[in-house]
Amino acid sequence: MSQSYNRGLVEDFGRWREFTAGMWAWIFHKFTGWVLVGYLFTHIAVLSTAIAGANGQTVLVGGEQLNVYTATIQGLESLLIVRVMEVGLLAVAVFHILNGVRLLFVDLGLGLESQDKSFYASLIVTGVIVIASIPTFLEGAF
Ligand code: HEM
Repeated sequence: MSQSYNRGLVEDFGRWREFTAGMWAWIFHKFTGWVLVGYLFTHIAVLSTAIAGANGQTVLVGGEQLNVYTATIQGLESLLIVRVMEVGLLAVAVFHILNGVRLLFVDLGLGLESQDKSFYASLIVTGVIVIASIPTFLEGAF
């Protein structure tokens, strides 16, 4: 006989200490998915300065006329907070992809008994990739 739980109308996040791996995976997947959607709009806004750049529009930066697209990219990349956020973006994207692939296997009924382990593996591989990326992302930031 299948078990049923009375969860109430809304999940009680006050019980976060009792959450299982599956609940954390669900929360992280939703969070990373919507962060990626937010980034997509930011990305389009930044890249759209390339349209004005392609039309030859320039902007004065430190007494130098720079193409507006180049100035935007250089201005952003000169900020430490942007470099750190890029590392965060990589973490979000890698976790979402790895956990997403894990979920696709789960949906196919593959590896159902080791869902916890595959979630932890997604976290560990994400951590390793993100740590390995730090020297590249922060190069010249200080
Ligand atoms: C290889 C890349 C990706 C894979 C494998 C992947 C996989 C998945 C899967 C399997 C789900 C459904 C999870 C469920 O069963 O509830 C999902 C949800 C979602 N994904 Fe992705 N995804 C990828 C890339 C992206 C990107 C690039 C974005 C955003 C631009 C994105 C945004 C979302 C959002 C918003 C959700 C719904 C989250 C929610 O439940 O509210 N995903 N993804």
